[in-house]
Amino acid sequence: MPIIHHRSPDFLPVLDSAKKGLQWLYQTKNDVLILCSTGTGGMVGAVNNFFNHAEKVIVVNGGKFGERWTKICQAYGLNVDEIMVEWGYAIKPEVVEEKLKKEQGIKGVFVQASETSTGVYHDIEALASIVKNYPDTLLIVDAISALVAHDLKTDEWGIDVMVGGSQKGLMLPPGLSFVSVNKKAWEKANSSKLPRFYFNFKKERESLAKNQTNFTSAVSLIVGLNESLKLLQGEGLENIFGRHARLADATRKAVQALGLELYAKESPSNAVTAVMAPHGIDGQAVYKNLREKYGITAAGGQDRARGKIFRIAHLGYADKFDIITAIAGIEMVLKGMGHPVKLGTGVAVAEELLMD
Ligand SMILES: Cc1ncc(COP(=O)(O)O)c(C=O)c1O
Repeated sequence: MPIIHHRSPDFLPVLDSAKKGLQWLYQTKNDVLILCSTGTGGMVGAVNNFFNHAEKVIVVNGGKFGERWTKICQAYGLNVDEIMVEWGYAIKPEVVEEKLKKEQGIKGVFVQASETSTGVYHDIEALASIVKNYPDTLLIVDAISALVAHDLKTDEWGIDVMVGGSQKGLMLPPGLSFVSVNKKAWEKANSSKLPRFYFNFKKERESLAKNQTNFTSAVSLIVGLNESLKLLQGEGLENIFGRHARLADATRKAVQALGLELYAKESPSNAVTAVMAPHGIDGQAVYKNLREKYGITAAGGQDRARGKIFRIAHLGYADKFDIITAIAGIEMVLKGMGHPVKLGTGVAVAEELLMD
């Protein structure tokens, strides 16, 4: 299709529809801004539109993306109090509650919903129910990999700011980020004086009201976004979350049937499963062999988990046979690398769990 001009009458209904579709997916009546950037751009905007230099914030750091919140906050001169969570574990919400109770002046709590580097889901509902009691503290959630895979009730739970991205559950190429902002966050934005130009949320909000974006819209991605949203709306929220839960459960149980251990020791994510490579097997080699020998795209580990794990995604455009294929590939790769595997063991478990 020809690219339509982003200020032309042709484009306005396209943006209007994307805006409404995102509100549906986010389960919110508030604004969901559409930014031309990868997810990290939305994270940057979630810092420099709501806070001030030297303001105290909590970052839940349980993996590579938690660490990213810290780095962004520090880049803007915020006073970061990191809660370090051992990789593979989820934040205990009461730890956040204790800090908020004890220390005055904490203006924000930053967390991932799904920490993609470890395959752990943090309990956003519990965190929201705590932060809601602090009128001067915002809960900022990175849901870049959780959106679509997990039921995140933005308004009902009271998530103040939530960031998503196009290339994960929304099944699009990279290049868009989305940020929901509620009333509490907009009020806090009024007193934020951090430098900003490209990610100026107030200007984005004014443009969004006119079915525009502040700068040139990523037209082709937004046209695609409407198509993804149509697919998702056709399936329905309950079915979407049910499908992700089922695929994730089958993946976990299939790899466990192969004698493998999950990297997430608790609260596993429905977006991605991180699997411990067996003793003596390099996790990086597992995912590389999956790709090179069998054409299956998986991922390795990041940072301290590099070599120790490999990761299987089951979000967005994923269904039963993606899981069955991936498990078959893992069996064949591990056997090929000399690990004792009875072929079909994991596949049989996945088939049982995914049969209609
Ligand atoms: C949880 C999480 N946060 C942030 C990001 C960064 O997003 P992007 O690479 O789109 O900037 C990712 C990407 O993998 C992610 O999974």
